[in-house]
Amino acid sequence: MNQITITQPDDWHLHFRDGELLNETVPATARCFRRAIVMPNLVPPVKNRSDAMAYKQRILEAAPTGSNFEPLMVLYLTNETTSDDIHEACSQDIPAAKLYPAGATTNSDAAVSGIESLYPVFEAMSDAGMLLLIHGEVTNPETDIFDREKLFIDQHLGPIHQRFPDLKIVFEHITTADAADFVLSGSDNLAATITPQHLLLNRNDLLVGGIRPHNYCLPVLKRNTHQQRLRDVVASGSNKFFLGTDSAPHAKHTKETACGCAGCYSAWGALELYTQVFDDLDALDKLEGFASFYGADFYGMARNTHKITLKRETWTMPEEIALTNGDSIVPFFAGQTLNWQIA
Ligand code: NCD
Ligand code: ZN
Repeated sequence: MNQITITQPDDWHLHFRDGELLNETVPATARCFRRAIVMPNLVPPVKNRSDAMAYKQRILEAAPTGSNFEPLMVLYLTNETTSDDIHEACSQDIPAAKLYPAGATTNSDAAVSGIESLYPVFEAMSDAGMLLLIHGEVTNPETDIFDREKLFIDQHLGPIHQRFPDLKIVFEHITTADAADFVLSGSDNLAATITPQHLLLNRNDLLVGGIRPHNYCLPVLKRNTHQQRLRDVVASGSNKFFLGTDSAPHAKHTKETACGCAGCYSAWGALELYTQVFDDLDALDKLEGFASFYGADFYGMARNTHKITLKRETWTMPEEIALTNGDSIVPFFAGQTLNWQIA
């Protein structure tokens, strides 16, 4: 197959950042995605309806003229979040709240330290029909970084899913066979997003032959058996797994340094790379469900109606993207060949 037409996809996990950078990130996503779940890990974070609506406005101002792009906003849960914050926020344009364990990733210092203390908030979310999005890694320093996702399932996610059976949970950017199997064993109220980098790469791509800071993201890339399991579940066509790029820009100088930031900026080629993965897996017929249907279905939103076509045509990801402030970003897959292009 040299061409594929699918319903326009959505990105169910994305970092836009704020300010000037929106002029780069919003058009990059709006070029192919109709909606995106916008992560709230700004500094300071997006904590309530008023923060979210102001941020949404700034995003819309950066969208290309005439685009029908729709940002879907997310609240950032902290130890101060109340049930009132949830009731006030919950709506079509703020469908979810995000749980970051404190210290788990970029800009998560404001996050939750005792997850169980949020149970009243989860109760309110469950009643209101607001989704809980979870960065699923334990953060205690003695836990090996490669085991953090598995331990989070055992210690937190399992108990939350059991205690709140009606709460819809998205286990974000899963990286392990353990996570895939847990999601498959859970109820219909449990689903997961998977990034392009976790489908395309494993930890050798981070560490063999030299450290590759532009492949460093959190949760960190795992061994190839985990990568293979993620590839298997998307190729199976299960509706519990859907597209979430986790595209997360960081300036080049903050990644190419002694203590580099976590995050891959994939917005320039994410859909094309997912297409490449499904093609490699001989599962192009499963791409549309993953990219365009299952996320919307899980969120209880209408599927998109517009179509988009990808062609088998090679192109090269730029080495760098210049920003107006003089910085630059090295995009995910920089300098490498992609096999699919949006027509
Ligand atoms: C994300 C970021 O940079 O905001 N980084 C990352 O490595 N994925 C945060 C996140 O989703 O963990
Ligand atoms: Zn993220």
